[in-house]
Amino acid sequence: DKGGHKHFMAKEIAEQPVVLANALQAYLSDDGIVLPEPGIDFDKVERMVMVACGTAYYACVTAKYWFEQLAGIPVEVDIASEFRYREPPISKGTVALFVSQSGETADTLAALRHCTGRADSILSVVNVESSSIARESDLALPIHAGTEIGVASTKAFTCQLNVLLLLALRAAEARGKMSNSEVATLLDELRRLPGVFNAALGRDDIIRETAEDLADAHDVLFLGRGLMFPLALEGALKLKEISYIHAEAYASGELKHGPIALIDHAVPVVVMAPRDHLFEKTVSNMQEVIARGGPVVLITDAAGAAEAGDDAWRTIVMPDVDPRLTPLLYALPAQLLAYHAAVAKGTDVDQPRNLAKSVTVE
Ligand code: M6R
Repeated sequence: DKGGHKHFMAKEIAEQPVVLANALQAYLSDDGIVLPEPGIDFDKVERMVMVACGTAYYACVTAKYWFEQLAGIPVEVDIASEFRYREPPISKGTVALFVSQSGETADTLAALRHCTGRADSILSVVNVESSSIARESDLALPIHAGTEIGVASTKAFTCQLNVLLLLALRAAEARGKMSNSEVATLLDELRRLPGVFNAALGRDDIIRETAEDLADAHDVLFLGRGLMFPLALEGALKLKEISYIHAEAYASGELKHGPIALIDHAVPVVVMAPRDHLFEKTVSNMQEVIARGGPVVLITDAAGAAEAGDDAWRTIVMPDVDPRLTPLLYALPAQLLAYHAAVAKGTDVDQPRNLAKSVTVE
């Protein structure tokens, strides 16, 4: 049942405020963050490895920033198909974390099995609680996204981010990197997020118009810095997956090291940049694109839009949110750009060619 939507993907995008609110309810009590038993003693963790595929991998890349910056835990992130055959050494004090919507992705499961008996503990962040990955973990954290049918992962991504952020905050608290009141303040912001997300869903028109223009492009680049780098990667994956438009993402600072050669009037560049401490750097990359005739789609907030002026081809203004929560909110325009571009091109949005929802063979 598509609930009145044209596609499951549209339904699942629109469901995000509700599923995020449900997930928060499952993990938060009046006293703060509650993890399922047996919990985890973050005090003793020396290092984390995070492994996944596709969109779940980008959730891990985002989580690396959170765990390092908020909790001070060094994190290594890897793609499961590389990790499993590289068979990296796993030192004592390592917690291994696997993210998978289905919980059945063959490469991710094989990577998990490499860590079994080597890592101090195996954590997983899954949507399907009865899945192999959940069963073979010491602690499985459900994301509470509900069934996801569209091949393009949307609500599972934001719900993965939500659980990973809660976990990072728990670690930050346990390691004395954030005080209880700092965590409580951020949790209040997180509780407001479903409402903010709803407000952002109301900006669908401008995103649809932009996507309809993007639909004619053969190549699209995505740029982001810091927490927006993994979001740029996710935006490019989503676009290529369902609209079949060639899309690549780069860390903004890498532009000069090669990709800038691709810029011309036919290559739109989506710049994801809320007005945070990295904004000026990214805007200067945006100016470099504009100077070479590249049409820029700037996704930012009101302060960012005011500061960037009107040089961008299109500006999509998102509601304000705490800078640490921007990955959850900025997933939305990335998803909607891909969705509307695919609809404009008339592709099979829920069942894109050559792709399966769950990759249970290599
Ligand atoms: O079920 P999983 O989360 O392990 O799946 C991982 C990827 O196959 C998946 O995220 C894929 O990249 C999506 N189709 C992206 O939208």
